[in-house]
Amino acid sequence: MDIDKYSPKYRLHQKDLLCLAELTTEEIFELLYTARALKKRFRVGENKPMLRGKTVALLFGNASTRTRITFEMGIRQLGGSYLFLPKNETQLARGESIKDTAVMLGRYGISALVLRAFTMAQTEEFARHSAIPVINGISDEAHPLQVLSDLFTVWEQKGRLDSLKLAYIGDGNNVANSLIMGCTKVNMDVAIASPHGYSPSQSIVERGMQFGNVLITDDIAEAVRGADVVYTDVFISMSEENDKEKKKKLARYRVTQDVMALAKPDAVFMHCMPAHRGEEVSAEVIDGRQSIVYDQAENRLHINKAALALLTDRRR
Ligand code: CP
Repeated sequence: MDIDKYSPKYRLHQKDLLCLAELTTEEIFELLYTARALKKRFRVGENKPMLRGKTVALLFGNASTRTRITFEMGIRQLGGSYLFLPKNETQLARGESIKDTAVMLGRYGISALVLRAFTMAQTEEFARHSAIPVINGISDEAHPLQVLSDLFTVWEQKGRLDSLKLAYIGDGNNVANSLIMGCTKVNMDVAIASPHGYSPSQSIVERGMQFGNVLITDDIAEAVRGADVVYTDVFISMSEENDKEKKKKLARYRVTQDVMALAKPDAVFMHCMPAHRGEEVSAEVIDGRQSIVYDQAENRLHINKAALALLTDRRR
């Protein structure tokens, strides 16, 4: 389905947003259209108070720049308030159960819970026991809001999503997993080039293949040829800082000008950030004319607002 032929209703019916595998194409489009409408309002200083009287809990297990700031600012702009809860400062750090925490948060007048850096199984456990919407702000297996923001950015830049090709180079991590699910659901082809042993999980690849074209290869040129979007992420995620072997294997998967030259002439470069110039991407690419990384990062704000507005809408 072509996004420009879709008529948005600005509604979502599910309670939680945990991973893109659970969303239909129409639900992804609802989020993208809502983000677009909120961005238009933001640009002219007309933020509708869609979260007035509502408080969102941000329960974070690791450091964050974009996710934390875009949620905090997005909630303020929509007239709501938030509680920032570092996981280590709650009783979760001393072994209190997810069930007890999730049930209690739902009893205190909180309208939604954003989780960051829990495992996917823990995130799902929160959602099972929570009376309020649970949003996955990153887990070991998925980064759904990042990829919704990425799809929104591609739509803005290219004017469509249908039949585009995205090539992801590097570690087959949570972002790569969500790109597979997000791209295939909106009819974009996705090609992932990773060294042996660092491809996305087979179960995600098989699931993505049910919806669209997924290529998994260790050959950068094969992945990037004909791509409209070239994407990468950090080689070493936050819990893997001492993994020297991984860094060594990924070293030749850097996105350079030579890699960009294999893509279409009007291809764009994307990175979910934080970025390490000289590791996964050269400075001339991320700071060059094809890079859209700051638009991508800005759009985290508009997608987060869309997710909160739709999931806390009582008409749901
Ligand atoms: N892309 C992303 O999630 O950024 P942060 O780690 O800064 O939140």
